[in-house]
Amino acid sequence: MSRSPLPRLRRALLSASAILALILGVLVANPGVSQAASSLPCDLYAAAGTPCVAAHSTTRALFASYSGALYQVKRASDGATTDVGLLTAGGYANAATQDTFCSGTTCVITVIYDQSSRHNNLTIEGAGTAGGADSGVPADALPVTAGGHAVYGASFSGVMGYRKTAGSGVAVNGQAEGMYMVTSGTHVNNRCCFDYGNAEVTVADTGNGHMDAINFGTECWFSPCYGSGPWVQADLENGLFQSSAGGSQNTSNTGNSAPFVTALLKNNGQNYFALKNGNAQSGGLTTQYAGAEPTTSGYSPMHQEGSIVLGTGGDNSNGSIGSFFEGVMTSGLPTDAADNAVQSNITSVGYGGPSPVAGGSLTPGSTISLRALTAASNTRYIRHQNNNAVTSVVTSSSSALDKADSSWIVRRGLASASCVSFESRNYPGDFLRHYNYQLLRQPMDGTSVFRQDATFCPSTGKNGTGTSFASYNYPTRFIRHYNNTVYIASNGGSNAWDSATSWADDVSWSVGQPWTP
Ligand code: AHR
Ligand code: AHR
Ligand code: AHR
Repeated sequence: MSRSPLPRLRRALLSASAILALILGVLVANPGVSQAASSLPCDLYAAAGTPCVAAHSTTRALFASYSGALYQVKRASDGATTDVGLLTAGGYANAATQDTFCSGTTCVITVIYDQSSRHNNLTIEGAGTAGGADSGVPADALPVTAGGHAVYGASFSGVMGYRKTAGSGVAVNGQAEGMYMVTSGTHVNNRCCFDYGNAEVTVADTGNGHMDAINFGTECWFSPCYGSGPWVQADLENGLFQSSAGGSQNTSNTGNSAPFVTALLKNNGQNYFALKNGNAQSGGLTTQYAGAEPTTSGYSPMHQEGSIVLGTGGDNSNGSIGSFFEGVMTSGLPTDAADNAVQSNITSVGYGGPSPVAGGSLTPGSTISLRALTAASNTRYIRHQNNNAVTSVVTSSSSALDKADSSWIVRRGLASASCVSFESRNYPGDFLRHYNYQLLRQPMDGTSVFRQDATFCPSTGKNGTGTSFASYNYPTRFIRHYNNTVYIASNGGSNAWDSATSWADDVSWSVGQPWTP
């Protein structure tokens, strides 16, 4: 070993300039690469002194060093389970694992793993005082892209929820905590309660202040709520709070209906809580409220119990719907600077929509209308009315109700990724499904038969134009109008609606712009 002839200062300067050159070289070579890989949300919160005690995501790692599983799926065909992990440590979900494992059958998400060392894994929620046992979410109902990769979010259609009872390290009895989730403003309703955060140890309402969870939806619990939502609210038990008074004190908070929304709640457990929201695709966070705890007794101080809930209320009120991509809970009240750094990491992910199914305009997440192509009916659209699917003439001067009834959100097929399902525009969480061969609009109940009845596989229209939709579980039957009612019909058969006359025209549809975007 030879001693360096260079004086110490010069050595130090040289190595500093070498490091600088290295950094500049990396930046020049990879202008799009940020420091994100070394500072994911839980790294940022840890650096600010408020470490994550829970970190859940189906899309990506939330610690740069995390290399474990993100979630577990269970398939219907044989009840087997597998874990979906990451493409690289600190990276994105390896969704191909799920696609291969679930090919030809259906899968539900059975566990969302906690990436923190606390192991606060979320499993399917059991019965509570306000709702029977929940189902897991269909594993492939919410395809999106993150970091340029095809991944899946978790799409809740009601009677779906997860829980960790008595989490490790989660705030209890007035301790401070923070939390955020990335959710969506396009799949929401006004039922109780699409929540992520702190809940009771028993699945029951044990009183004011026993919850501290982010709520996202259009349920206005305390008047006033401004605009039409959905709003980021604090479910502190027995109320979805927008301020210490309950209702909103902020007329500019009209909600956030962006496709990807950052929803944030923090609470010092004693005399302060704050709510923020932001567009998870770009920009910063807006503080909707920052101030005192609710004035009603029980909330100051708080009485959190330290369980974690996702998708339902604390007592398993499970009428709500929603979307979940990622979320964390911290120990301690995060600083605004840490929240801002986390939001900037979230926007760097580039959450976005998936690619179209079968080409053309059937892009999951887009809203469409379906117009009949039979000459005598070609101003009629598939709409629901009194829960049945029928066709009605809809024009630009039709009522807002007729327009909304005839607008449908395309979803990746609930039973097959290469097919589609149609979610009602004005009854989110309800889907077009057949029952006794007739099409109805009904709430997704999580059962395998519902998923199959609500899945339709597109192909070129049988009359040579537009698109025809084969029933997934009755593949020789196609969506057809007959006497202005909508069925799945075969080309000739025992039912009146299976009539071969005009069949090819009646099963051909124009997929077009929605009457209600
Ligand atoms: O606080 C709102 C809801 O009220 C809670 O989520 C639920 O436990 C109770 O029904
Ligand atoms: O399908 C439910 C409702 O029934 C529709 O919104 C309305 O048109 C009819 O009253
Ligand atoms: O529509 C045909 C069948 O009728 C459906 O698969 C089932 O839900 C109902 O029994």
